[in-house]
Amino acid sequence: MLKNVLASVLDAEEAAQVYSAFDQVGDIVVIKIPDGLAGKKTVIAQAILANVKTAKAVFAQASAVRGDFRVRDLEFLAGENRTVTEYKEHGCRFKVDVARAYFSPRLSTERQRIASLVGEGETIVNMFAGVGTYSIIIAKANKTCRVYSIDSNPVANELCIENARLNKVSDRVIPVCADATSAIRDQLTGVADRVLMPLPERAKEFIAPAVAALKEKGVVHYFAHVRADSKKHAKELGEKDAHEAFKDYEHDVTETTVVREVGPRVYQIVADVTVTKA
Ligand SMILES: C[S@@+](CC[C@H](N)C(=O)[O-])C[C@H]1O[C@@H](n2cnc3c(N)ncnc32)[C@H](O)[C@@H]1O
Repeated sequence: MLKNVLASVLDAEEAAQVYSAFDQVGDIVVIKIPDGLAGKKTVIAQAILANVKTAKAVFAQASAVRGDFRVRDLEFLAGENRTVTEYKEHGCRFKVDVARAYFSPRLSTERQRIASLVGEGETIVNMFAGVGTYSIIIAKANKTCRVYSIDSNPVANELCIENARLNKVSDRVIPVCADATSAIRDQLTGVADRVLMPLPERAKEFIAPAVAALKEKGVVHYFAHVRADSKKHAKELGEKDAHEAFKDYEHDVTETTVVREVGPRVYQIVADVTVTKA
């Protein structure tokens, strides 16, 4: 459908470029305008708004995702000039601010996969929780677990508090607004059966606090980016990368999943690493 919408204002090659970088979060659409199409950005945005019934606002990415908070600059193009919306996934509702806190609709399968691995009564530490997506989906699917949801971005933390309330899991999703290393050192050492590290660009810097958060034995979901020429190769390299990252600890990589391609020949992987502490 979107391809047809774009085809009405662009040629086939141009339409394909815009189509491949189109995200819709709730009623907000974020597109990437290739340099050569800057002159057509308003016409593209208006075509989207007129034809995608669920879209109320269209923004263009004005920078890459960057900084500690992993947010990007957005340029308003058409519709309502607001960046807050509501997004639904796996029976959960999330209030999201597409400009001020990280959020990606492209991780939904992985969130479901991790939620399905959680056992009875687990304590989980999500080191980079954002607006609470993984934490809340896990808590909603597993009524006996508790999830500490750390994020250093105060906007993400506030949204996580609100989202936990919206989804009625405030009693078991505990937001912590802090740097993950400090939060684990100060209050979460040795508490976790499972640790999530969804900060692929920098997860390697946080291996020691992730292991510190675990009980004597537990699982770390280690996210990373690897350069590879195929998905199969990415899986092999991801497993190797995880072994390297946890080489100082007794560990086993039980599964490596290729989550998505994030750039030309760059893949996001997640390795499930069981760690046994001496
Ligand atoms: C890639 S986002 C992932 C967010 C969320 N898990 C999701 O998938 O929607 C990484 C998050 O880590 C947070 N962050 C970055 N450095 C951090 C640190 N040192 N301690 C705690 N949170 C941090 C950012 O603010 C951002 O919200």
